[in-house]
Amino acid sequence: MTDASSGFLAGRAALVTGGSRGIGLATAEALRAEGADVLVCGRSRPALDQARSRLEAAPGPGRVAAVAADVRRHDEAQRLVAAAVEALGRLDILVNNAGVGRFAPIGELSVDAWVETIETNLSGVFYCCRAAVPAMKRGGGGWIVNVSSLAGKHPFAGGVAYCASKAGLNALTESLMQDVRREGIRVSCVLPGSVNTGFGGGRPSPEMDWKLAAEDVARAVVDLLRHPARSLPSRVELRPSTPRK
Ligand SMILES: NC(=O)c1ccc[n+]([C@@H]2O[C@H](COP(=O)([O-])OP(=O)(O)OC[C@H]3O[C@@H](n4cnc5c(N)ncnc54)[C@H](OP(=O)(O)O)[C@@H]3O)[C@@H](O)[C@H]2O)c1
Repeated sequence: MTDASSGFLAGRAALVTGGSRGIGLATAEALRAEGADVLVCGRSRPALDQARSRLEAAPGPGRVAAVAADVRRHDEAQRLVAAAVEALGRLDILVNNAGVGRFAPIGELSVDAWVETIETNLSGVFYCCRAAVPAMKRGGGGWIVNVSSLAGKHPFAGGVAYCASKAGLNALTESLMQDVRREGIRVSCVLPGSVNTGFGGGRPSPEMDWKLAAEDVARAVVDLLRHPARSLPSRVELRPSTPRK
């Protein structure tokens, strides 16, 4: 734990999808810094190995695990949740962060790109939640935080697939929140604007410092978990304070 951390998540177990880089990795680091055991997933094994080494070197007393899984596949999502319970002994926190961005006008957007976007950003979240809710109920409750986007609220040209996937995710989140809130599972979504990661290709760069940092989004996720059990902040919007004109 760092000096600034309180360790309020000690003994808690967290699964972060898409935790091999970007916002997911920063979130796993932040959860670990607060004492949680964390398991990250992604599709690329080398990227996961790197993430695991980085997490193990970061401050935090908890366990670290990394599992290769493709959230677009229902069976893999189920296996992922089972692996988290097996490795960490329980599941208290699920951060659905894995996502892809394919941007093009409709005539140039392939059917494959549409399917990949909807399956990753929307169906994948459904599969992970469906697998995780019974495990959380067994443990007496938990948190599900879905990393959505302001694009789900403010659609733009070239974003037919991405904006639709995140609008659907916002609806899924609010519906699920009402399904499980009385069972001690609090569901919320974080809607970031532009974040300086390699999302959609490219790399994070100093020229993009005007954007949010992955750590800013991670902080918003961890702050949600600090709320007392009676309080459920169900949606957080987060944007760069000085956007580029
Ligand atoms: N960056 C932004 O400007 C921004 C803004 C608003 C919202 N968001 C949202 O934030 C989330 C994270 O974005 P990021 O910027 O951190 O992107 P990123 O750096 O590209 O990271 C995406 C992560 O998701 C994983 N992933 C992708 N498809 C997957 C699949 N089918 N199964 C399992 N893991 C998968 C990737 O690993 P593999 O490729 O190895 O699978 C990687 O770990 C996304 O949901 C995105 O929509 C991003």
